Amino acid sequence: MFENKVVCVTGASGGIGRGLAEMFIAEGASVAISDLDAPSATATEIGAQAYTCDVSKEASVKDFISQVQNDHGPIDIYLSNAGVGSENGKFVAGASNESWELAWQVNVMGSVYAARALMPSWVQRGGGRFVITASAAGLLNQIGSASYSCTKHAAVSLAESILIEHGDQGIKSHCICPQYVRSNMTKGMAMAEKSKDGLLEPRDVANALKAAIAADEFLVLPHPVVKDYFINRAVHTDAYLSGMRKLKEKVGKAFSKKG
Ligand SMILES: NC(=O)c1ccc[n+]([C@@H]2O[C@H](COP(=O)([O-])OP(=O)(O)OC[C@H]3O[C@@H](n4cnc5c(N)ncnc54)[C@H](O)[C@@H]3O)[C@@H](O)[C@H]2O)c1
Repeated sequence: MFENKVVCVTGASGGIGRGLAEMFIAEGASVAISDLDAPSATATEIGAQAYTCDVSKEASVKDFISQVQNDHGPIDIYLSNAGVGSENGKFVAGASNESWELAWQVNVMGSVYAARALMPSWVQRGGGRFVITASAAGLLNQIGSASYSCTKHAAVSLAESILIEHGDQGIKSHCICPQYVRSNMTKGMAMAEKSKDGLLEPRDVANALKAAIAADEFLVLPHPVVKDYFINRAVHTDAYLSGMRKLKEKVGKAFSKKG
């Protein structure tokens, strides 16, 4: 399905990023994976090329993109997947400014920097596909982490803006919004392991993206029930919020994202 496409994936040393990379490789793409440290071992295992990229730094994102272009030619598909989470602390805005700033830089600006670097050449070419791994927290909420919820909402909005602004110029955009998926981020997280909607594997997310691309759908919902929750939030907002408060009571402080 993606023969000879040049694909970039950030935050891909493991977890969802690795799963996405493996799917594109299986579909015939040439895949460049990056992380804070070049994920060389993962690249060797799956047949990708490894690069260093700190998505919170614009120069690093630009370097990653130009290195891939030099090594493999024009980029066809860019997966902005790196992400961080952190806990609120005792009160809702209790996390430090530094952790809010980091969430903003990684979860939002990492995609802004990449879109800024890629869009001029994509528009000129009349094609390109930008994929952001946001989260169900970007459509709903993440109990225990306001910074994660806020920045993932912004990520969803940015993915929408890309399609709205450049869809007529041949650019595609997708936004991946899973609930819990097995990765370092959910390791040891009781809320993830006990989730009634299931803890998915990274390959499930990759397959959901493949299906969404085939169907030309913007939202990628590896847990299909998220669509029902999203509709419920829009239509019955107070009932949704009351349900989330009850859920919060139930799970207590189980949220333990790292980042
Ligand atoms: N696991 C889940 O349940 C879940 C659910 C919804 C969304 N997500 C999102 O999926 C994406 C991938 O997360 P994952 O679950 O595979 O966890 P993960 O921890 O395995 O992957 C996140 C990766 O991002 C990298 N990263 C962090 N800061 C970075 C930076 N400044 N520059 C470059 N890379 C950086 C980390 O090194 C890590 O490899 C994230 O955006 C996350 O928010 C995860």
